[in-house]
Amino acid sequence: MYNPTRLHFGRDVIKGLGKAVSEFGNRVLLVYGGGSILKNGIYDQVINQLNAVGMTVWEHGGIRPNPVIEDVDAAAALGRRHNVDVIVAVGGGSVIDSGKAISITIPYQGSGWDFYAGRYKPSTAVPLIAVLTLAATGTEMNPFAVVQNRATMQKLGGRNDLMYPRHSFLDPAYTFSVSREYTAYGIADLMAHCLEAYFDDGDASLSDRFVFSILQEAVVYGPPLLDRLHDYELRARIMYAATAALNRTMTMNGRKNAGDWGVHAIGHVLSLLYDLPHGATLSIAFPAWMKLQAERIPDRIAFLGKNIFGVSTPEETIVELEMFFKSLGCPIRLVQVGISADKKEEILEGMVHNQVSGNYHKLTVADYERILEFAL
Ligand code: NZQ
Ligand code: ZN
Repeated sequence: MYNPTRLHFGRDVIKGLGKAVSEFGNRVLLVYGGGSILKNGIYDQVINQLNAVGMTVWEHGGIRPNPVIEDVDAAAALGRRHNVDVIVAVGGGSVIDSGKAISITIPYQGSGWDFYAGRYKPSTAVPLIAVLTLAATGTEMNPFAVVQNRATMQKLGGRNDLMYPRHSFLDPAYTFSVSREYTAYGIADLMAHCLEAYFDDGDASLSDRFVFSILQEAVVYGPPLLDRLHDYELRARIMYAATAALNRTMTMNGRKNAGDWGVHAIGHVLSLLYDLPHGATLSIAFPAWMKLQAERIPDRIAFLGKNIFGVSTPEETIVELEMFFKSLGCPIRLVQVGISADKKEEILEGMVHNQVSGNYHKLTVADYERILEFAL
């Protein structure tokens, strides 16, 4: 097991940011998104911390949800030009993933996409510090970063141990301003991470129980949170659940591939084609994928249903999962996000082009068609 990220969790943990940044030097590249941190005051708190320890700061704002490689390359060029010592990424998964990609691109002369395309194997990275503002992806404590390339029409995840943040600051109050919608997508995403681990190969009873525990946190505390977006305790429970769901430790030990990830591959194609929020693609794709798998792995699906929803068949499990996502306000069919049957060919093409499959549950083109039938 390996996880080098130092996680600072709780109210006002930001007060430790200045000290953490000072460990690495005094030239900072600050990366953030479309402006939420300017509205909710987080930007000011971060800048105060950096100023208090005498940092010189260069900024790259405007990282978009479902981030693109052009932004990564532009921010890396800025960081390279000013020889920065450390990157501070303040935002959700899109910003922190971009920060990770920037951290391995600065020491490299080409595009960061070369890493995703397998043409560049980083041997060094600029240290990254994350300040998380949205509970969902687990990126704050893992070595993954997902980026889009619209020129090649790909959305790919990369993994490198150099991309673990050195420090991550998680103040649940920083997520108060996340909309109801995005809070729900975050819950769907953390649940999907548990399920990707669960559906991998490998008889790992304790890892299964960790999966069930994290899923239960989501099922119990997710719905009340949506009615009380400023409830610190509920925000904290969901934030910790999201970190635990994908930090490459508890849910993945004893699995052969560190997760199946077939459903994420489907979700990435939907985000790429229609710019859908990541969590919304998963609340549609997971039930559809499970319907395909119901006859192949009925016992595995039923075991999940028994432990999470107290039901006994694969069919009931899938219905319960769909009803739960629906209760959160997440879409469970493509038509709910404005995608009708006439888009089927386009999605199929995207799936073929991106070679959508799982690490364990391999998917064929015939499988794609059935999944899409279920999803439409
Ligand atoms: O850009 P700003 O203005 O910050 O607004 C964002 C964005 O519009 C907003 N937001 C974030 N924090 C907020 C806030 N709004 C109000 N108050 C706050 N405190 O929320 C919107 C969505 O942000 P984004 O970062 O895109 O969301 P999320 O955290 O769900 O990240 C999604 C990205 O992460 C990737 C996804 O594919 C997607 O690209 N993933 C990364 C993973 C990883 N690194 O391990 C695993 C995941 O499976 C996932 O693939
Ligand atoms: Zn995800």
